[in-house]
Amino acid sequence: MRKNDPAKFFHALHRLESDPKVARMKRFSQHGGNPTFAHCRSVAVTSFLLAQRLGWRIDEAALARGAMLHDFHLYSFKGSRVNVFDHAFGHPRRALENAERLFPLSGKEKNIIVSHMWPLTLFTPPRSKEAFLVTLADKLCALREMGARRR
Ligand SMILES: [Fe+2]
Ligand SMILES: [Fe+2]
Repeated sequence: MRKNDPAKFFHALHRLESDPKVARMKRFSQHGGNPTFAHCRSVAVTSFLLAQRLGWRIDEAALARGAMLHDFHLYSFKGSRVNVFDHAFGHPRRALENAERLFPLSGKEKNIIVSHMWPLTLFTPPRSKEAFLVTLADKLCALREMGARRR
C-alpha cells in the first residue's frame, strides 16, 4: 500500500497558514483562551499523526485543508452573544459557510468541516477517513488545550 506523503500534507497546510484570510483566526480564541488559528493547526497536525499511527492512507491535501478550516467561524464564543447550544451545534455550519465563500472546497473538505462536532451533530456524520480523524483530533486537542489552561 502506498504511504502518506508528509510533504504533500505540510505543503497544503502551509499554503493555508500563510493566507491572510486564514490568519484572521488569530484574532479569535476558544477553549479558554487558545487562539483559534493555533487550535486549527494543532488539529491538522494531530489528524495527520493519527493517520500515520493507524496506518490509514488518506488524502493529504484534503485533510490539511479541512482540518485547518474546521473552526473558521470567525468569532470568539467567550464574550459573544451566541448561546452555548447555538455555538456547539451551529459553529461547524458557520465555519463551512465562511470557508466556502473564500476557498474552492471539495465535497470531502466540506464534510470535514461540517461534521467535526460529530457525534454531537448526529445528522452530519463524517463521511471519510479524513473527516473521522478530524472529529477525533479536535476532541483530543480541545482536552489538551483545556488541561493546559488549568495548569
Ligand atoms: Fe469546532
Ligand atoms: Fe475545533
